[in-house]
Amino acid sequence: MIIQPRTRGFICLTSHPEGCAENVRKQIEYVKSKGLINNGPKKVLVIGASTGFGLASRISAAFGSNAATIGVFFEKPGTEGRPGTAGWYNSAAFEKEAHAAGLYAKSINGDAFSDEIKKEAIELIKKDLGQIDLVVYSLASPRRTHPKSGENFASVLKPIGEPFSNKTVDFHTGVVSDITINPVTEQSDIDNTIAVMGGEDWKFWIEDLKAAGVLAQGCKTVAYSYIGPELTYPIYRNGTIGMAKNDLEGTVPYLNELLGDLNGVSYVSVNKALVTQSSSAIPVVPLYISLLYKVMKEKGIHEGCVEQMQRLFADRLYADNVVLDSEGRIRVDDLEMREDVQAEVAELWNKVTTENIESISDLAGYRRDFFNLFGFEFDNIDYNAESDELTSVESIK
Ligand code: NAD
Ligand code: NA
Repeated sequence: MIIQPRTRGFICLTSHPEGCAENVRKQIEYVKSKGLINNGPKKVLVIGASTGFGLASRISAAFGSNAATIGVFFEKPGTEGRPGTAGWYNSAAFEKEAHAAGLYAKSINGDAFSDEIKKEAIELIKKDLGQIDLVVYSLASPRRTHPKSGENFASVLKPIGEPFSNKTVDFHTGVVSDITINPVTEQSDIDNTIAVMGGEDWKFWIEDLKAAGVLAQGCKTVAYSYIGPELTYPIYRNGTIGMAKNDLEGTVPYLNELLGDLNGVSYVSVNKALVTQSSSAIPVVPLYISLLYKVMKEKGIHEGCVEQMQRLFADRLYADNVVLDSEGRIRVDDLEMREDVQAEVAELWNKVTTENIESISDLAGYRRDFFNLFGFEFDNIDYNAESDELTSVESIK
């Protein structure tokens, strides 16, 4: 079928198989251009492996360290006349490239929050890899069914305490407007967000993997967090999602103790703000990212997901000395948070309007990145040509 982008708000309803493959190939090329990572990972489980930071982590491990990878994700394959999700096509493309390079790569498509998928992953590790030495936890989801109680939790993206008013942009039209987001009224909204995006499921994964004996001596696990500038604190770090991130970060000491007898270690890495399917859903944040991109590109320090994850692996996780902040976190948001960068973004933030946004921000870059997530707007892809919406790979179950 011929596949064109169809959007509804911050969601793109269609994805392009060849475009997604192009996105994956570009990331692989970047990782290869950086050379092999010293003493990098060898056998890796990536939970949330199909898009965003998780996909970039998988590519960094495979093509930066020749690692065998198992990816877990929740995606939809295409059906006759209806394209699948971008994460499906990304994973199909990743596996083809990995196999062509002689690398082990298999995937499990299903609900990572469930006990069943954890069991499936453990069986696959036992059968094919024996033990793994890195577990990347990169889930982003709006909901979770608790595996023990069966309870359904939905996360919310809201401030806590007071209403939050600030500027926001509709990135399709470039219209900048004022938005007021009312705070949560129920404690349960905070608790539910923590249940979905906090550390409990990461803990369950590591507990199960350890109990099954599939974690190698010296294994590492890493999960991803975000802090960002003060202007987004009310909606992000001090909002409901921030409480979940506090909970995620608070899981590290427990996991370190759990992994102690294996000489294993757990980390949270604070990553840069980037255009992903998840971040485009957060109000105010896309406007911040558009201004941030402008400033960081002008300074020559812009990074995308793959640049971030390659640097995380090469210069942090597998460096001789893992440098942590005062709270014990890895920081690859160091360039985003640089004082000169933040000062310039703040200045632009005060000035930005519908009239000047195209010139003082990188809204065009934001949009391109957004469409690239779904395989669109790559120069070398013919979007008027027929695509195979049924693209499949045997090793994705
Ligand atoms: P993303 O939406 O691109 O990726 C989410 C992944 O989770 C996908 O692979 C998806 O298939 C998988 N997933 C979702 N629900 C699942 C389920 N029930 N079972 C199995 N897989 C499931 O998101 P992202 O932006 O890459 O986020 C990954 C992590 O990075 C999150 O913790 C996020 O908070 C964090 N982070 C994001 C940013 C940013 O700006 N995007 C910045 C810092 C940290
Ligand atoms: Na991810």
